[in-house]
Amino acid sequence: MLARQCHHVYNQSVMKKMRLTPELAYDGLSVEKAIAKRRSERSFSGRTMSLAELSHILHYSSGVTDKRTGFRAAPSAGATYPIEVYPVTNNVEGLTRGIYRYLAASHELELVREGDFRHEMALAALGQRMLIEANVVLVLSAIFQRTQRRYQERAQRYILLEAGHIAQNACLVATSMGLGACAVGAFYDTDFNHVVGVDGREESVLYLVAVGKI
Ligand SMILES: Cc1cc2nc3c(=O)[nH]c(=O)nc-3n(C[C@H](O)[C@H](O)[C@H](O)COP(=O)(O)O)c2cc1C
Repeated sequence: MLARQCHHVYNQSVMKKMRLTPELAYDGLSVEKAIAKRRSERSFSGRTMSLAELSHILHYSSGVTDKRTGFRAAPSAGATYPIEVYPVTNNVEGLTRGIYRYLAASHELELVREGDFRHEMALAALGQRMLIEANVVLVLSAIFQRTQRRYQERAQRYILLEAGHIAQNACLVATSMGLGACAVGAFYDTDFNHVVGVDGREESVLYLVAVGKI
């Protein structure tokens, strides 16, 4: 038992932060072709996704695209960046199943909680099976204060719009890469917040994107 515990702690400390790979060097579809081809995909093949593929999706969804300013792939009101992206992994090469936080500034993943959260996610989302079968579920949450401190009540609107921008980037880049993606808004807020470990007040889950190999 002690050995198992030690292994667990060791694993977590090693995995705490993980550098992602640079974006893939390939030309995907044109924006117009990706928009035309995008459809909500809800079944996935079960093939493994590479870490490079996940890195690419994260970079083009919400990563830093201008290192000088720190500005990112999706627009943000006053560059306040209220949206956090938590990849919840199932079948990604080299990544233990778990909940990770995407650190956009350093293009790293930080392990939040190790474990298999697929059934908990599906249960919190009206039993939607795609959350079990997807290679990764991008959980988009908001830290409201980041935008509220500048825009007060108007921030509510901005934050929801921003989640939409990031989710659409994720869907389009997935399509461009030949992967499937589906936006998911049908879930119980309290239950999903509980899965990710956010309080629902300072930070709350807003939107999900299931992504997988088809
Ligand atoms: C805000 C929002 C929430 C959605 N939630 C779900 C969902 O919970 N489950 C699901 O299967 N599809 C969900 N969808 C996907 C829609 O069903 C889908 O976009 C629609 O049927 C049109 O099909 P298309 O995306 O292939 O063009 C959602 C889409 C949006 C924009």
